[in-house]
Amino acid sequence: MCRMKQEPSPKPDIGGRAEIETLVNTFYQRVRSDDMLNFIFESVAQTNWQTHLPKMYAFWETVLFRSGGYTGSPLAVHAKLAPLTAMGREQFDRWLLLFQGTVDDLFAGENAEHIKNCAADMAKVIHSRIN
Ligand code: HEM
Repeated sequence: MCRMKQEPSPKPDIGGRAEIETLVNTFYQRVRSDDMLNFIFESVAQTNWQTHLPKMYAFWETVLFRSGGYTGSPLAVHAKLAPLTAMGREQFDRWLLLFQGTVDDLFAGENAEHIKNCAADMAKVIHSRIN
């Protein structure tokens, strides 16, 4: 059979920790090649990626499966950044575009839809509280 004619294999859903790590790693790779957002992480927050990435695995695992053990306060962290740099509509729109685009490129299904909706809701809340 001609392989060219086969449908591309369907994307998996986000099933657990392994997929969350893939999603987070891919998303922050894209953030780091985006000038607008990378500036905030590298120059303003001076992010330590070795600690930030595991924190974000825990965060999203907690959001999606209630098992990640995340106990931080995202609102407070972003509120501290807001006076130091531009954290407006443009930045949040870009963040969400990259996040949802990463989900869609890698995954499809109920959890993929749910994590995109959670990200959109939280972006809205964080943006409105810090501006
Ligand atoms: C303009 C958009 C955003 C920017 C520029 C941004 C940037 C950052 C930065 C610089 C940090 C600190 C990293 C460090 O420790 O150095 C951070 C932490 C974090 N961000 Fe965002 N962020 C954005 C939107 C969001 C959204 C929409 C969410 C949630 C869906 C989110 C979730 C988090 C979480 C959970 C942390 C870790 C907080 C903690 O330390 O416990 N961020 N973000």
